[in-house]
Amino acid sequence: MTTDFLYDLTDGIATLTLTADSGVPTLDAGFRAGLKSSVDRLYADRDAISGVIVTSAAKVFLAGADLTEFAASPPAAELFGMVSGIKADMRRLETFDRPVVAALNGTALGGGLELALACHHRIGVDRAGVEYGLPEVMLGLLPGGGGVTRVVRMLGIQEALMQVLLRGQRHSPARAVDAGIVDELAAPEDLLDAARAWIAANPGAAQPWDRPGYKIPGGTPSNPKLAMTLPAFPATLSKELKGAHYPAPRAIMAAAVEGSQVDFETAQRIETRYFVSLATGQIAKNMTGAFFFDLQAISSGASRPEAPRWKASKVAVLGAGMMGAGIAYACAKAGLPVILKDVSLEAATRGLDAVKKMARRKPEIAELVTPTGELADLAGCDLVIEAVFEDTALKQKLFAELEPIVAPDALLASNTSSLPITTLATAVQRQQDFVGLHFFSPVDKMMPVEIIRAAKTSDAALARAYDVVLQIRKTPIVVNDRRGFFTSRVFGAFVLEGMALLGEGVPAATIEQAALQAGYPVGPLAVTDEVTLTLPYKLRQETLAAAEAEGFDHPHHPGEQVLTRMVEEFGRKGRAAGGGFYDYPEDEQKTLWPGLSAFTGPGCAFGEIQERFLYAQVAETLRCVAEGVVEPGPDVNVGAILSIGFPAWTGGPLRYRDQVPGFDARAAELAEKYGERFRLP
Ligand code: NAI
Repeated sequence: MTTDFLYDLTDGIATLTLTADSGVPTLDAGFRAGLKSSVDRLYADRDAISGVIVTSAAKVFLAGADLTEFAASPPAAELFGMVSGIKADMRRLETFDRPVVAALNGTALGGGLELALACHHRIGVDRAGVEYGLPEVMLGLLPGGGGVTRVVRMLGIQEALMQVLLRGQRHSPARAVDAGIVDELAAPEDLLDAARAWIAANPGAAQPWDRPGYKIPGGTPSNPKLAMTLPAFPATLSKELKGAHYPAPRAIMAAAVEGSQVDFETAQRIETRYFVSLATGQIAKNMTGAFFFDLQAISSGASRPEAPRWKASKVAVLGAGMMGAGIAYACAKAGLPVILKDVSLEAATRGLDAVKKMARRKPEIAELVTPTGELADLAGCDLVIEAVFEDTALKQKLFAELEPIVAPDALLASNTSSLPITTLATAVQRQQDFVGLHFFSPVDKMMPVEIIRAAKTSDAALARAYDVVLQIRKTPIVVNDRRGFFTSRVFGAFVLEGMALLGEGVPAATIEQAALQAGYPVGPLAVTDEVTLTLPYKLRQETLAAAEAEGFDHPHHPGEQVLTRMVEEFGRKGRAAGGGFYDYPEDEQKTLWPGLSAFTGPGCAFGEIQERFLYAQVAETLRCVAEGVVEPGPDVNVGAILSIGFPAWTGGPLRYRDQVPGFDARAAELAEKYGERFRLP
């Protein structure tokens, strides 16, 4: 038991203060027992109490559910009982006939906010980094601690779904007030005074839904206006989810709509039932596995060698192009001063302009970035991230020149997407301090960073790289220095499968739709147009050349034929080059390029198309593991989801293989039918 409530009754104000041995209170067994006994004491002390404050002694107010409890797969009946118990005590708290205020001293997400929603008034704290919201949907769950029921009754069905429940927004304090889930903000030091003042001013406080004559804002589904808009909701949702396997948003919508037509207690029970059905299902396990447990393991250093913690203090970013500007922005956003170097001050300033665009809401970020055309300005930098043109000789020359200028122990990193780090490292004296730091485009949005360990990279340097990636609040994925690293290979397996299908005569629209409905965020042809066809085309040329020079086997992939024809025969090189699989008419939606009818063949069944995407990526992942490119740890599952859009509902390629009955046999069948790329190592 780690979470507890302290109970204090002074001058008529009962203060319930959350504490936790771990530093982060959760809705664990200690919380449940503490809530019950605290509420019991409130009722016992009722005559001496004029108001109640619920707050926390931790940095966060209260984190959500204790997900380790779900991970233990409790039977549905047990889960139902546990959730109902919390709800009953929260209900006793909100019907205590004295004003009850939540003084939200820090972040309150999920169950943390749900406790606050069971108070009559919520005062948030005006502090950077604090977040309020109900993000359960992102874990394949729904807010089962009264969150759906109360937010619907506070905001109305439509607002509740759109602003809070369906997308799981994490609101900043100011936005939480706009969204209506927090009532007012106070400075940290004024929080408790504000709570006392509210109690004094509102002696008759109660929840709106416990007052006579209460109606849900915007009405219930029997209201003609809502009855007109409501039927469009599932359709909009379907469109947004593209028919993919996400049961949580549907369950949330059902709990909201059904719950709005019954009394509060029944609504709570409906909510609990939907919650239990999600929490005991496979997809919530997959999503909490990846987005909670794996991410937690990564941020606590799962793939980090033992070494003292490190913090970069000044960064040199070389190359102020698309990637360099994004990297400079990401570093500055984390508070790191950046020297942004390009061939001239003018070129570097163009990069700074791009940073300013990304930082338009927080201009102070761009102030940390100094553009320059002079290498000498890199003096004192303890981290170098190089993002100049993809050219070995250029990169090597640059590193040789800058090594004596930057701090003598600076970490040296290249953002190359395909060149061997071990080769680049030979340009410097301190090869042990050289790593790959492979960011993804667009850098400001993409979370993962592949850390590539070269032949001579030391444990200490790898640990420093890991620390830096966490320092700029991204997700480190540790890989070894092999051709294609990890993510590019697994991404390649997806897009090449899409092209192979095209070559078999499957209509392009079917290919894209099958991928979307399988849960990929974007179709293989559309995403290839974005990264350009020239990129995989060039990579293949290089691999073929290397295969010949080094005498290794480069297995033929049928997608490569389509790629070659698109580039060589049709000159369709992607969106930036004017068009690829799609046409991009100005000011209009893109349309599939009619020339794709040149590809004909027998086609493939829809379900099998979807299988082929997933199986091809799992097989490539397992090859990466077998070849020692990656360790089969949390970063493999998370990296595949975050960087290349492996469907999130699966929890990642390794989890997916483990949970599909007969996966290996089916992979063998696909290998017989379509080729060795489906053969599991
Ligand atoms: P880019 O062409 O937009 O930018 C390259 C920049 O480097 C240009 O501004 C150029 O003036 C500058 N530059 C050239 N020589 C220089 C020198 N000697 N000193 C300083 N600056 C110099 O290229 P992009 O797309 O930003 O790519 C940069 C690197 O990042 C490449 O190695 C690429 O493989 C890698 N990368 C690219 C990704 C992408 O999606 N574009 C993704 C991940 C990595």
